[in-house]
Amino acid sequence: MNFQCSMMIAGVIYLMFFPMHSVESSRIDFTNIKCTSVNKEFSDFEYCFLKATNRTYKYLSLKVRLYKLPIHQFTVNLGLHKRSNGLMPFSQNVTFDGCKMVADVGNPVLLFLFALFKPYSNINHSCPYTHDIIVDKLPTHFVNQQFTRYVPFPEGDYVFNSNWITNGKNRATVRVHFSFT
Ligand SMILES: *[C@@H]1O[C@H](CO)[C@@H](O)[C@H](O)[C@H]1NC(C)=O
Ligand SMILES: *[C@@H]1O[C@H](CO)[C@@H](O)[C@H](O)[C@H]1NC(C)=O
Ligand SMILES: *[C@@H]1O[C@H](CO)[C@@H](O)[C@H](O)[C@H]1NC(C)=O
Repeated sequence: MNFQCSMMIAGVIYLMFFPMHSVESSRIDFTNIKCTSVNKEFSDFEYCFLKATNRTYKYLSLKVRLYKLPIHQFTVNLGLHKRSNGLMPFSQNVTFDGCKMVADVGNPVLLFLFALFKPYSNINHSCPYTHDIIVDKLPTHFVNQQFTRYVPFPEGDYVFNSNWITNGKNRATVRVHFSFT
């Protein structure tokens, strides 16, 4: 029996004994969230929290009230930083047109980012926006499903930082800490 064949059999045996493994163990875990309104005349957070109801169900919710409606244009600046253990420094910082995120089907990075939360948010249509913004009970297992389509992704602790900008002014920041194991 060659090596590949024995690995396959080992895999089948594993799945027989631990059939729920891939469903039950979420590989992404939100560890912290912080929302900050930079300009409270423009917007403010009504709530912003993580909640775990049990071992397998943890979600993220937030609501930002917008006081200067409608919004015809916004820019999003995203940063993804791996908390360094000295081995694999990793950092991304991208800026894009938020109205295009919801409309542009051509950009795979934007599509990927948008897909992480779209079904759980009312940021799900093209500009203008005439209402407050919510992310309603975005579960870790959903984010995990989207994420693991794009493996390999290095394990570790990450900080996802976002700045929400209109008319060149940063209005709000949302920072999510998560681990990927
Ligand atoms: C965890 O909570 C969710 C939502 O309340 C529920 O649907 C699920 O069955 C619970 N899972 C376990 C293992 O208790
Ligand atoms: C991206 O880099 C700029 C310039 O260093 C910094 O001001 C900004 O906060 C970074 N954005 C994120 C989301 O970390
Ligand atoms: C956007 O989300 C809202 C609230 O969840 C929902 O009522 C609406 O049908 C969604 N619209 C689209 C175009 O998916």
